[in-house]
Amino acid sequence: MVEFPENFVWGAATSSYQIEGAAHEEGRGLSIWDTFCAIPGKVYAGQNGDIAADHYHRYEEDVGLMRDIGIRSYRFSIAWPRIFPTGKNTINWKGVDFYNRLIDKLLEYDIAPMATLYHWDLPQALQDLGGWTNRDTISRFVDYADYVFRAFGDRVKLWITHNEPWVVAYAGHYIGRHAPGMTNLSKAVQVSHHLILSHAKAVERYREIWPTSQAGKIGPALNLYPMYPATESWEDKKAAELADEFHNRWFLDPILAGKYPEKLFGIFKEKLGVPEINDGDMETIAANRSNFLGVNFYFRKVIAATDNHDILCYKEVKPSGSKYTSMDWEIFPEGLHRMLMDIKERYDNPHIYITENGAAFDDVPQADGSIHDHDRIDYLAKHVEQLAKCIQEGVNLDGYYIWSLMDNFEWAFGFSKRFGIVYIDYGTLERKMKSSAWWYRDLIKNNGCAIASRNHP
Ligand code: FCB
Repeated sequence: MVEFPENFVWGAATSSYQIEGAAHEEGRGLSIWDTFCAIPGKVYAGQNGDIAADHYHRYEEDVGLMRDIGIRSYRFSIAWPRIFPTGKNTINWKGVDFYNRLIDKLLEYDIAPMATLYHWDLPQALQDLGGWTNRDTISRFVDYADYVFRAFGDRVKLWITHNEPWVVAYAGHYIGRHAPGMTNLSKAVQVSHHLILSHAKAVERYREIWPTSQAGKIGPALNLYPMYPATESWEDKKAAELADEFHNRWFLDPILAGKYPEKLFGIFKEKLGVPEINDGDMETIAANRSNFLGVNFYFRKVIAATDNHDILCYKEVKPSGSKYTSMDWEIFPEGLHRMLMDIKERYDNPHIYITENGAAFDDVPQADGSIHDHDRIDYLAKHVEQLAKCIQEGVNLDGYYIWSLMDNFEWAFGFSKRFGIVYIDYGTLERKMKSSAWWYRDLIKNNGCAIASRNHP
């Protein structure tokens, strides 16, 4: 029998660009994802978030679905260009009003809002000035954070600064798979430093605005992957350690321990001359500790050494014999346990929320409209099981958010991948609970105890 603490937070997550739509309505400014989607070949079938799940207009219905499932907390993101259409100075009151209405609706149903400040939709006007490569964007981010902390902080008590800064830095500026689509490793490394510093400065500002007695909690959401060497060879083990520094510790170490991992820092400095760090940056990063760590977990990585003379001499290997989701992501729930235990040991057992976990499968509605997503239930149940184990072994785990509440715009994959426990018919925008939503309802009702059941409608 699995036991979760009584006040464990069962949640679900989304992000602004992926669900809101209304991209050109009520004063919203352009974001880098509007621009990126318009470039031919960047996004599956030329799709974009103009309409997405139309949540901007249907938020009341969506909060109603959350209530029906019994979700206790909802993680959403605020679209920066809805608040500041050009990234700074002029406020768009209609955007502010939208989030006020959303937050109030959530509270009416006793659902705790968890708001993410930055889930990748940078105002295009700031990108035109260099975006995250420009150190000045840090100040713009803190100004924006300052505004939303004051506007919503009386009711929002759970804050995420950045969602997956690794993805912002490297998918956006090195691999080029995400907006703004750059392919420059030095710039990507510099961006990562700016993101980490802006995280710390936002934490600092939050504490200035909300005195301890009224303050909530604030932290980052990092995408983390336990690294497994492909073989027991010394080379593969070393390669896996480097991959761990690159993906995980580059963000975990400064945010939780105030410094960059030495080996990779040395490599970047020697080969690329970055990151440039100003006097006081590391002190600011070290001084402004998060209240918790948000972990987005999907799969592990299996790593082998290569001699391809890349700066990062490793490659990812696809284990055979494993099961994969429709993202081609390996299903490996034990990796979640490994990851959390590593964090517990290495960083003095911080408080943790799983801020994202979930799976895309090719859901097919039956003739009667029902969607039996048993693969998803199985994926979720197995991960929840690992969480129970972590709690038993002393991890300070405070909550779990499924990615995602509803099907949505999956970045470069457009609408071709479905992660929701609620199905969206993109033709009619009708919502429909999948079996996994009912499974989650029962799980929440029993505080984690119905996890093995496959008997859902
Ligand atoms: C994460 C993102 C989220 C979603 C899931 C599948 O990397 O934070 O927006 O795309 O992956």
